[in-house]
Amino acid sequence: MILAIETSCDDTCAAVTDGPRVLSNVISSQAAAHARFGGVVPEVASRHHVELVNPVVDAALAEAGTTLDEIDAIAVTVRPGLIGALLVGVSTAKALAAATGKPLIPVDHLLGHVAASWLEPEPLAPPFLGLIASGGHTLLAGVRERTGFELLGSTLDDAAGEALDKAARMLGLGYPGGPAIQRVAVDGDPAAFKFPVAMSRDPGLDFSFSGLKTALVYAVRAIEKEAGEADAEAAVSARQADLAASFQAAVVDQLISKISRALDAAERAGEAWPALALGGGVAANSLLRERAAELCDRRDIRLKLLPIELCTDNAAMIAAAASGLGPIAYPDYLDIDAAAVSRKAAA
Ligand code: KG4
Ligand code: ZN
Repeated sequence: MILAIETSCDDTCAAVTDGPRVLSNVISSQAAAHARFGGVVPEVASRHHVELVNPVVDAALAEAGTTLDEIDAIAVTVRPGLIGALLVGVSTAKALAAATGKPLIPVDHLLGHVAASWLEPEPLAPPFLGLIASGGHTLLAGVRERTGFELLGSTLDDAAGEALDKAARMLGLGYPGGPAIQRVAVDGDPAAFKFPVAMSRDPGLDFSFSGLKTALVYAVRAIEKEAGEADAEAAVSARQADLAASFQAAVVDQLISKISRALDAAERAGEAWPALALGGGVAANSLLRERAAELCDRRDIRLKLLPIELCTDNAAMIAAAASGLGPIAYPDYLDIDAAAVSRKAAA
């Protein structure tokens, strides 16, 4: 049994897993504390983590019907993320491990998002192609084993979720933006605005969302200009659903196109991926899920969709990743540090 702690961003999370079984997965969201700032404020996040981490760990143990004595190892997210936020989890995990004589397993947050797929229900074992799309990251992962993944492509600028969050702010929809855009887009026409999908110039597997964001700024400005100063706000408001639907469709188009390309490339190389897994907060998006289902149907490969609570940040996925890594005994883990960026990204 692994007890895992995740505090890389604005959710304080702890979970207990037993192999692929999730015994508890406690997530204390700070979204309300950050909403009025329109995004996560790092120092506010750290302070909330300090207050929440012990009760959240206690709740995870209680919900799993277990105690620290029965835990075999303690896992914790050590990178990438907000450094102050990560430090709260890392210090807590080290203290718990040292006090109880258990080993520690340091985990990369992104491997965590990938590893969420090998948890129940319907665990998916490697090999598979993974798309991780969250507020901080957008990447394609070639997953062949449980110890890591090959980075096939990542975003050159904004993450997909970040683009949705910024678009939502521009449209006056609040934070977090992804769910708000999805809600409003239901009543909109995805073909109302032609936003760029950022494919033509880039033949590779990297993503780019900043051009899309700029296109939205111009579309909003054009509506405002046409309406005149007095009616600008009402005019944008009247087109809110169409703007949201078109923007969401452009984000999803790009994600699906790059997945398609990655599947093609593997096929050409003679090692076709037998499955696709979606992870990260944006994987909660229903349009993305639908389009991915169509794609996998057409290609006759398995699609692994996660329950929403395993898409967004959580500690069960950190425990899952830890189960494929080696535990580190006392005192060797004491000099492990939190890091704001991935080793891979830093290299
Ligand atoms: O994985 P996550 O919880 O945290 C990070 O590691 O970033 O992802 C949060 C991101 C936010 O940008 C949020 O707007 C987006 O996921 N998100 C969604 C949906 N739910 C959350 N985006 C699109 N559609 C959704 N339903
Ligand atoms: Zn995440």
